[in-house]
Amino acid sequence: MTKLNEEEKKFLIDLAVEARRRAYAPYSNYPVGAALRSKSQKFYTGMNIENAAYPLTICAERVAVFKAVAEGEREFEAIAVVTKNGGSPCGSCRQVMAEFGLETIVLIADQQGQLVTETTVAKLLPEAFTPQKLDNA
Ligand code: THU
Repeated sequence: MTKLNEEEKKFLIDLAVEARRRAYAPYSNYPVGAALRSKSQKFYTGMNIENAAYPLTICAERVAVFKAVAEGEREFEAIAVVTKNGGSPCGSCRQVMAEFGLETIVLIADQQGQLVTETTVAKLLPEAFTPQKLDNA
């Protein structure tokens, strides 16, 4: 399992802090930034993008994952998520992250870039429904 040193964690969190500045969150006023590190050592950022038709809003984590997958990535080491107050990824984002590996490290930080929680997708989504489950279908 991947382990990030303090410098690597800070780098990823800083990318998420920066990405958060590009959030489009005029309705909730709750900007979220994310930064994802792939096994290939590339970085993909995301931010929440809201819509006047509220349910069309997409979360920062999913933007980052979808951008990465669109570029051919499937394996991830870590994701940093930054909010004002160290908010935790929503259920939909947990499921999307789980699709690409339960071992991905999740760094949850506040707007100052202070690490609040370090966890994994497996811990955030116990008993996850994963692609392997479909093999028996
Ligand atoms: N949001 C995220 O971007 N990620 C999460 O995991 C939680 C929620 C966004 C969605 C919406 O734009 C705002 O935060 C308030 O829910």
